[in-house]
Amino acid sequence: MKKIVLTAFFIFVGVCSYSQVKGKCGFDAVQQKIAQHPDFASYTLKKKLAYNNFSQQKMDTVIRIPVVVHVIHRLASENISTAQINSQIAVLNKDYRKLNSDTSNATGSSIADVKFQFVLARINPSGSPTTGITRTSTTIDNIGISNKYDSLVPAWNNERYLNIWVCDVGQFILGFAYPPNTPGVSPQEDGIVIGSEYFGTVGSVAAPYDLGRTTTHEVAHYFDLLHIWGSDQSPSCSTDDLISDTPNQDSEVYSCVTRTSCGSVDQLSNFLQYVDDACMGNFTLGQKTRMRTALYTQRDSLQYEIGTLVSSITDQNIFAKTKLYPNPTKGTVTLEFPSNFEFHETKIQLFDVTGKVINFKTIRATRGLILYINAAPRGVYFLRVEGEKINYTQKLIKH
Ligand code: ARG
Ligand code: ZN
Ligand code: CA
Repeated sequence: MKKIVLTAFFIFVGVCSYSQVKGKCGFDAVQQKIAQHPDFASYTLKKKLAYNNFSQQKMDTVIRIPVVVHVIHRLASENISTAQINSQIAVLNKDYRKLNSDTSNATGSSIADVKFQFVLARINPSGSPTTGITRTSTTIDNIGISNKYDSLVPAWNNERYLNIWVCDVGQFILGFAYPPNTPGVSPQEDGIVIGSEYFGTVGSVAAPYDLGRTTTHEVAHYFDLLHIWGSDQSPSCSTDDLISDTPNQDSEVYSCVTRTSCGSVDQLSNFLQYVDDACMGNFTLGQKTRMRTALYTQRDSLQYEIGTLVSSITDQNIFAKTKLYPNPTKGTVTLEFPSNFEFHETKIQLFDVTGKVINFKTIRATRGLILYINAAPRGVYFLRVEGEKINYTQKLIKH
């Protein structure tokens, strides 16, 4: 295992150091790293099954994704401001909701509202309130590409947070990302890494990568999108991104001048290109489906928003305002949460007086629930509502 990691590490650095073109490299190197891994074949097969078996459902709910930004700084300029971080979150929330003003850059008709919303975490992995931003200083240069970012600042639980490290990635590389369940990638390094000067739209950002699109692009890789021209190292018209509505393209493009390849006009505005930030502006519907499928099948626990649960202080309010009625009941009872309750994965259990569980359910994203206990014998019960930060128990009488 150790050997594999070291080999992969060597490949990563080796591939990146010859590249002198800004904007290139990050994800390509990751792809090479994956392809070298002994589990590559089974990984690819599993993915194929996941995509084939997933139906077109659940494409329309907005999914809120808890984000933690780990700022690692050696130079003062790398200790980016909170305003700069917020400007990046704002870009994500435009680009992934089709709210950006430059969808007009798009050629072709398919422009998707992916319906992902990005929210800075409010609860850290140990359950305490957080701003969703961590700051760590270092003396290590090029900490991103040298793969030391995660030993300095390990990811917060990668099943609950999208981890974004903002640091000095290394020369000529804007950022990189790991697709879901990448073999050889540990949970503590899973996430995306972005250069400080390419993160957000204010502060230390540098043109032409100053519109936050590097992060838009890397988040898409994190949800399993490939570059438009395909994932392999020798692109051609016979390899592609596995998406049918992105025009087939034979190789990467850096300039925004209209180009035709593989018999069609390249969609240069696509976020999965290498063009400058200002030229980008859309995902396609096919890309939306793949990203959402990746979320539901391979990063599924992210959807429960555990990282953005309300804090314990607010929970007191929830307790006071939660209603259970009518009580006593003849059989149908309503459990209602206050309207400001941000609902997450929550377990609901009904106990009898002896403490035996009569019924239980795990629910999420709802304002409440109707319980039917018609079949239960008359008597005294206890209804318990349990979430990570919620603990509500109420006596319920069936008569
Ligand atoms: N280096 C990135 C990657 O391949 C792509 C850069 C995104 N382009 C941009 N204009 N921000 O993962
Ligand atoms: Zn990329
Ligand atoms: Ca395609």
